[in-house]
Amino acid sequence: MNKETFYLTTPIYYPSDKLHIGHSYCTVAADTLARYKRLRGYDVRFLTGSDEHGQKIERIADSMGVTPKEYVDNIVSGIKELWKTLDISYDRFIRTTDDDHVAAVKKIFKKLYDKGDIYKSEYEGWYCTPCETFFTEHQLVDGKCPDCGRTVEKVKEESYFFRLSKYQDRLIKHIEDNPDFIQPASRRTEMLSNFLIPGLDDLCVSRTSFKWGIPVDFDTKHVIYVWLDALTNYITALGYGSNDDSLFKKYWPANVHIVGKEIVRFHSIIWPAMLMALDIELPKQIFGHGWLVIDGGKMSKSKGNVVDPKVLIDRYGIDAVRYFLLREISFGQDGNFTNEALIQRINSDLANDLGNLVSRTVGMIDRYFGGKLPLEHMSTEFDADLKSVAISTVESFEGFMDKMFFSDALSALWTLIRRTNKYIDETQPWILAKNDEDKPKLAGALYNVAESIRVVSIMLQPFMPKTPEIIQKQLNISDSKIIEWDTIRTWGLLPKDIKVEKNTALFPRIDIKKELVELENAIKAAQNETIVSKEKQKEENNEDDSDEIKEITIDDFAKVHLVTGEVIASESVKGSKKLLKNTVKVGDNVRTILSGIAKYYTPEEMVGKKVVIVENLAPRKMMGETSCGMILCAADKNGKLSLITDDKQFESGCDVR
Ligand code: MSP
Repeated sequence: MNKETFYLTTPIYYPSDKLHIGHSYCTVAADTLARYKRLRGYDVRFLTGSDEHGQKIERIADSMGVTPKEYVDNIVSGIKELWKTLDISYDRFIRTTDDDHVAAVKKIFKKLYDKGDIYKSEYEGWYCTPCETFFTEHQLVDGKCPDCGRTVEKVKEESYFFRLSKYQDRLIKHIEDNPDFIQPASRRTEMLSNFLIPGLDDLCVSRTSFKWGIPVDFDTKHVIYVWLDALTNYITALGYGSNDDSLFKKYWPANVHIVGKEIVRFHSIIWPAMLMALDIELPKQIFGHGWLVIDGGKMSKSKGNVVDPKVLIDRYGIDAVRYFLLREISFGQDGNFTNEALIQRINSDLANDLGNLVSRTVGMIDRYFGGKLPLEHMSTEFDADLKSVAISTVESFEGFMDKMFFSDALSALWTLIRRTNKYIDETQPWILAKNDEDKPKLAGALYNVAESIRVVSIMLQPFMPKTPEIIQKQLNISDSKIIEWDTIRTWGLLPKDIKVEKNTALFPRIDIKKELVELENAIKAAQNETIVSKEKQKEENNEDDSDEIKEITIDDFAKVHLVTGEVIASESVKGSKKLLKNTVKVGDNVRTILSGIAKYYTPEEMVGKKVVIVENLAPRKMMGETSCGMILCAADKNGKLSLITDDKQFESGCDVR
């Protein structure tokens, strides 16, 4: 029998040199749903990826002296590494620079153009580069981007437009007829009243002012503007528009696109309209989750409040981090991230409730029965209630999971965990152990506890990739049939004479006072490690992007240490057409400096050059190499670089003033 399919997606992420815990939140949630659906017997397809085109990337890459492709290749490998660390079980990681995606997007654009749903006109309006979004004058808030509050740029250029307005009525009808299409319900109301009912403008879908994008085949000075390129990933990843569209036939329409609340608009208005224009069925649901906030505000590098998931994973393991994210915050709403809440959850829910339950049970079976229960069991007056809580937990857990109410599902599961701990207190195994005639009762009680732990371990699986297996190992479960999902509805599947294996604590208790200090230091250290390129920092600090020269004081200038140095070795950087890796002698010291000058100097020409360098520039990583400092060049109006050097051949290590 063919299994029912379930296709789910995360947004594709903008390449950023360090994704923070807020980004991980969405992916962890999607992964949990994917795991859950697989356990429930679905044929799951789980897609994630990276959204790599656009002016912002082009500018950052340029400021770093690398090509956009070199820049994104480097960053994307970091994103994939993070997903590996978090055990994200995706089936495909699509990059919008993948050949199959690029080819399919070109075809989609042409198809819409041929149909008359894309037409050429002139765009005049405002553009927010970080958000890759155009705005009309009246959409701006205090003259700034309504989404991120940053400065916008006035643009006027020839553009292709998508006839979004044509689909307005059909969209409203679809949203009204399908209450589950946009979830949670509050976002559905917001889309209707803030965007659809006031009326839709046609959408600009090409640009001519930058190059880093998929070119329009039949008008190559245009590149396809990023949302058409980005949103279509959900179908191109299945082979739509290619020679082999079998996956598309099998998995489309998507069951759910899981996205952050700020991009619900693109997913529930622009994307469905594009699909309507392409005569493709609409996804079944767009789920807009809330943000992980710090002190009420979104995490961002410029605020210096980002939390690196790797720091948390290193300290507490992935299962604890994943648990915290999905337990602490209701999926549709914003939730505050605090170090204290994280440690408290680990201590109370994981160490105390779950960890303790497993370790005391295994410990008692070990202590009272040498690690193996006898076959003779007697019931206690508390059994019926424990069993009925187990059964009702399964029902509520599944109900919540089906609606993506992850926090409620975990809360239901913890009701069973706590009930089981209470059962131990009620049956008092340590008293039963004192009398030989109570041994069957003791065996029966410990069996019930172990059975409850079996059921818990199965329901934990979508959330925790590692712990359930460790628990099942402690219960010595070798028969995989008794850990299949549907077995949670049947009580008593563990062998009566189960053996246990003692092991270390699942989640060691944390000394909260001491840990808070250490954790904060670790998070800060990771923040300082994040070296943001000059351009990016400018954007994030909301600085004006014009070429206007700003005055600085002598004190500002004094902060920049300029010194002379001598290039004593130079080589090209693997995978980069722009960069040279230079070894520069500065006085008695030697340092590595990467420069984007490969187009203008060969490594051989570099050796022996006396140069001026910025000595106190924070180190930054490019193409896997760390650059310490910057070699100064003069750039002509075409961007051609010439080293600032000196015919008198100055000594290395001199101050430049
Ligand atoms: N590239 C677009 C999506 C295109 S989908 C066709 C994009 N990328 S993003 O990298 O900026 O964001 C990716 C996802 O991370 C979004 O869903 C966004 O909401 C989510 N988050 C980013 N910061 C977040 C928090 N602080 N908290 C929760 N989610 C956050 O948008």
